[in-house]
Amino acid sequence: MTAPLIDPFMRAITYLRVSVTDRCDFRCVYCMSENMTFLPKKELLTLEELDRLCSNFINLGVEKLRITGGEPLVRRGIMTFFDGMKRHLDSGALKELTLTTNGSQLERFADDLYAAGVRRVNVSLDTLDEQKFADITRWGRLPQVLRGIDAAQRAGLKIKINAVALKGFNEPELPRITEWCAERGIDLTWIEVMPMGDLGNEDRFGQYWSLKDVRARYAEHYTVTDLAERTGGPARYVRLEETGQKIGFITPLSHNFCESCNRVRVTCTGEIYMCLGQEDVADLRAPLREYPDTDLPLQEAIRAAIDRKPKGHDFDYSRQRIDGQMPRHMSHTGG
Ligand code: GTP
Ligand code: 5AD
Ligand code: SF4
Repeated sequence: MTAPLIDPFMRAITYLRVSVTDRCDFRCVYCMSENMTFLPKKELLTLEELDRLCSNFINLGVEKLRITGGEPLVRRGIMTFFDGMKRHLDSGALKELTLTTNGSQLERFADDLYAAGVRRVNVSLDTLDEQKFADITRWGRLPQVLRGIDAAQRAGLKIKINAVALKGFNEPELPRITEWCAERGIDLTWIEVMPMGDLGNEDRFGQYWSLKDVRARYAEHYTVTDLAERTGGPARYVRLEETGQKIGFITPLSHNFCESCNRVRVTCTGEIYMCLGQEDVADLRAPLREYPDTDLPLQEAIRAAIDRKPKGHDFDYSRQRIDGQMPRHMSHTGG
């Protein structure tokens, strides 16, 4: 049997996040600049390369595969990839196949995703106000996303909403978003805004709304109980006693989940990031392309990368603020 992937801090790597495109049909202000230039197609891993890459990770012990972007569902032919991954679910090697999406294409793809074995989808949605939605995504249409969420629920997919907490933006909507999720049996997680992408004219630091404050806001409306449970992900949870709802909080700038980190990310160009908050990368595209007939060089490159996984991340708002430039775009690494 192949030895599993264990990093220098004895953490088993069982969760792979793969970005399949840097493109997106939205331009969320905290994620992309308005006039993004996207990568030429030849830079991207082909669907066959993506299949080979993911299959190798699965052979090395990855049990959870999350497909991200950009917007994964705008990648042409992406269902061929999902359909291919189903064989790993069927064999029992892969326990979960899932994706993080902006929801815009869900109406079209929900049934096919379910048929490919997907059971859970994370949808990014920061507001339920049509105008605000158009503003934050620069031109997205909220009704299209809401129809996508309905279609996904009808198809049998469980939904988790990821909302980026933005002061002065979705702050007043907290009760409405929470109730909307409760009515539909949808899980909700708040994410602290991370220092990524271009600063441009956006005041990302002024928009920073700490999840401690979000929790305090909940406490004004509900009885909030902290839950001890962790699900292997970065979220911490509370329960709202009045609705029985579980709400997640992801605070990327605090170190509370690095010690149990089980994940690595691969970009749409085949670079592996060992940690979301560190710049160290290794190239997996070269071994994929240069050795079409053997997977050994690829597996060696994966192991060498895991051997370099750092203990924790290194986000530093003060340093970023001075530089005025964020390290890279979320759409490249996939969040
Ligand atoms: P679940 O399987 O539902 O737990 O999903 P997830 O939280 O792993 O995935 P999702 O794509 O919904 O992630 C939401 C956000 O959490 C990401 O976009 C990041 O903002 C943040 N996040 C996820 N993993 C990490 C991590 O390893 N480090 C940091 N700093 N943030 C992370
Ligand atoms: N900070 C926090 N979350 C972000 N996302 C994108 N950019 C940022 C950022 N700068 C989120 C999206 C989505 C997830 C993949 O990443 O809203 O939920
Ligand atoms: Fe697209 Fe998601 Fe980035 Fe918004 S956050 S621009 S939906 S990739």
